[in-house]
Amino acid sequence: MQSAQLNLPDYSLSPQQVPQYMPAFLEKEERDALKDEIVELLAERNAVLVAHYYVDGDVQDLAEQTGGFVSDSLEMARFGRDHASNTLIVAGVRFMGETAKILSPEKRVFMPTLEAECSLDLGCPPDAFEAFCRAHPDRTVVVYANTSVQVKALSDWVVTSSVGLKIVEALAERGEKILWAPDKHLGRYIQHKTGADMLLWSGACVVHEEFKWKALRDVMSIYPGAGVLVHPESPAAVIDIADAVGSTSQIVKAAGELPHEIFIVATDRGLFHKLRQRYPHKRFIEAPTAGTGATCRSCAHCPWMAMNELQVLAHVLRDPARLEANEILVDPQVGRRAMIPLERMLNFPNS
Ligand code: 13P
Ligand code: SF4
Repeated sequence: MQSAQLNLPDYSLSPQQVPQYMPAFLEKEERDALKDEIVELLAERNAVLVAHYYVDGDVQDLAEQTGGFVSDSLEMARFGRDHASNTLIVAGVRFMGETAKILSPEKRVFMPTLEAECSLDLGCPPDAFEAFCRAHPDRTVVVYANTSVQVKALSDWVVTSSVGLKIVEALAERGEKILWAPDKHLGRYIQHKTGADMLLWSGACVVHEEFKWKALRDVMSIYPGAGVLVHPESPAAVIDIADAVGSTSQIVKAAGELPHEIFIVATDRGLFHKLRQRYPHKRFIEAPTAGTGATCRSCAHCPWMAMNELQVLAHVLRDPARLEANEILVDPQVGRRAMIPLERMLNFPNS
């Protein structure tokens, strides 16, 4: 693989850099009361809630019940841009809030917490990335949406896992050589599928990197008829045994289209809420990770996504000053530059 020639440092996060986040346990009555309160507060603030599939299931339901939206990172971006509301509450991780703000600089974008990071974003510091780009001026710079606004502003294309494959395929057909960042697993997958000439950054998702193919094989032997659904941020050996590989939305779609009654799913367990809601007659089993009782790293749940709790959302919405403190702000000049590759993605045919 091309990346081997680069001697890039390993930009994966160490365990110490990943927070151990344990969501609070709430009784059903407490959750119901918080949900009722949030419905009122959203209306009071004229705000629309846009949530990712990995956040708390109740927060996902609230988004749908109140005229907001739950989806993958691509469709969240599109929905936030196209919705008439001037106030967006993005329940997800920081890059998702930033993407909404870049695409709609005139809107106000808030998040339940600004501490919700992403290991891929953290593992791609803009200065180091800029030096990498400068060292390879002959390459088209394609970055994953899981990056900061500064990194997006250095790129030619932003892609999500929904459209990365199609876009790189089109660029490769035009003879373009690619510089890809930050997820090495997704980059390798796209490179393998398209045959494109790609130089890869060395970041990884702390959740998906933990899926283990040997343990997955063991689970498959217990459920011989099960289908295997995998997010492409997972290691190559796990991707290689999948029946379907794709973004969160593509996984949801595949679970409906494939004939299997049982699925083993290698992605954040937040997605199981939508999978079970949409296909109550099918069974979904979590793909195995590094081990039991270990750290957040091996629980198949993104610690940053987990921060989007019901009580955190209610706490922030209750008080205008607290809401303001959780506003996503983007330098307008950097934002305008980052909008170019983002819009290129959104305007790509059939994206
Ligand atoms: P999707 O674009 O598939 O929703 O993925 C976002 C993400 O952060 C996956 O870990
Ligand atoms: Fe980032 Fe991984 Fe969390 Fe997705 S699951 S937001 S890629 S750390």
